[in-house]
Amino acid sequence: MKVLLIGSGGREHALAWKIVQSPLCDKLFCAPGNAGIAQVAECTTLDVTDHPAVIDFCHNNEIGFVVVGPEAPLVAGLVDDLEEAGIDAFGPSAYAAQLEGSKGFTKDLCAEFVIPTAAYKRFTDAESAKAFLDEMSLPVVVKADGLAAGKGVIIAETRDEAIAGIDACFEGSFGEAGHEVVIEEFLVGEEASLFALCDGQTALMLGTAQDHKRVGDGDTGPNTGGMGAYSPAPVMTQELIDRTMAEIIVPTLAGMHARGAPFRGILYAGLMITNKGPELIEYNVRFGDPECQVLMLRLKSDLLELMQAASNGSMLEVEADWHNDPALTVVMASNGYPGSYEKGTPIAGIDKAEADGAMVFHAGTSEDAGGLKAIGGRVLNVTARGASVREAQRNAYDALSKIEWDNGFYRKDIGWRAIERES
Ligand code: AMP
Ligand code: GLY
Repeated sequence: MKVLLIGSGGREHALAWKIVQSPLCDKLFCAPGNAGIAQVAECTTLDVTDHPAVIDFCHNNEIGFVVVGPEAPLVAGLVDDLEEAGIDAFGPSAYAAQLEGSKGFTKDLCAEFVIPTAAYKRFTDAESAKAFLDEMSLPVVVKADGLAAGKGVIIAETRDEAIAGIDACFEGSFGEAGHEVVIEEFLVGEEASLFALCDGQTALMLGTAQDHKRVGDGDTGPNTGGMGAYSPAPVMTQELIDRTMAEIIVPTLAGMHARGAPFRGILYAGLMITNKGPELIEYNVRFGDPECQVLMLRLKSDLLELMQAASNGSMLEVEADWHNDPALTVVMASNGYPGSYEKGTPIAGIDKAEADGAMVFHAGTSEDAGGLKAIGGRVLNVTARGASVREAQRNAYDALSKIEWDNGFYRKDIGWRAIERES
């Protein structure tokens, strides 16, 4: 079978690396891909916002299965259009992708199906949103309803900050995403994520992970897309995993089914482990980046077979087999990220970094006759396993030390929370 993968990040390189190991895959195409993906797939400049063009590409290249990596094409309904054209695809419909695309949609689903989450209210005008602040204690969380590239969440310590956040949303700081606002209670606890592969009826727990959202060591500085991750997350005991599946994931699938929009694809639950147990902070409808990189390094089973089972409703017939060893990934980013940064800076030493079994997944890279260059904010994900998170951390940083890239930087403390727990 020929497969088309959509996306260009470290997540998609990890997916590509696993997909081409499947005996079911004869050839992999990727749109648009990156220099790492180009080593295992044929990259194409296909415009993925042009759904008829994607469908033509699939017909012309006899694509049997499409895997969508990022959220934007899912929310835009790419999977609906492919399926209507008779092309099998992995990922939710546009309606089901509202679990990520609309925070208000998810909160209402939680309320209806009694899924533990922060108390909340939805607003379409600034005045009533501000009036509601009188009923809330501080800190309070103000969220733009729609997709805001991880920027639409304001944790307000004071009433003035909350008011400024509400104004920012309704004045258009987050574009369309801010036309509606959710105000919610601030949850206290440790954050973790859980990934479940879903076929509309059945969910298969894939694994847990913890991300490092802030740019600087000690969780300081601005938020990023994620500077490193590990899996599993030691805070997620078997009891907490079972509770998350029973109290959050299973009722969500039942709720989506009841709404006539069964959820197929990856359900990524962002959780707060509070003193009452796991509560849902938010859903994403795709793999996390960089969480996917650590999950793929731990997965022994055929990813393509699992994804096909999710897409055709035969989840009960498959199982996932894992390496027990934890995996950890360190993101190398261009100096200046998440602000502005220079493009086109040279990178060398990837082969040496991979010599002892680590994997270097590419994100913002390109390659030409002049060699490998950084062209994005997040650029490389140096990923390794070890007998403990501490050992995986050592292996990843050892590998990273072989990479020569003057314009790159990385956090030096990825895994600190898990390592503290181990010792
Ligand atoms: P989200 O995009 O909804 O995941 O929010 C981004 C980050 O904001 C989360 O990873 C949390 O760190 C934080 N956050 C969001 N909602 C809450 C909440 N209700 N209580 C505490 N922290 C939150
Ligand atoms: N690493 C966070 C995300 O993928 O949303």
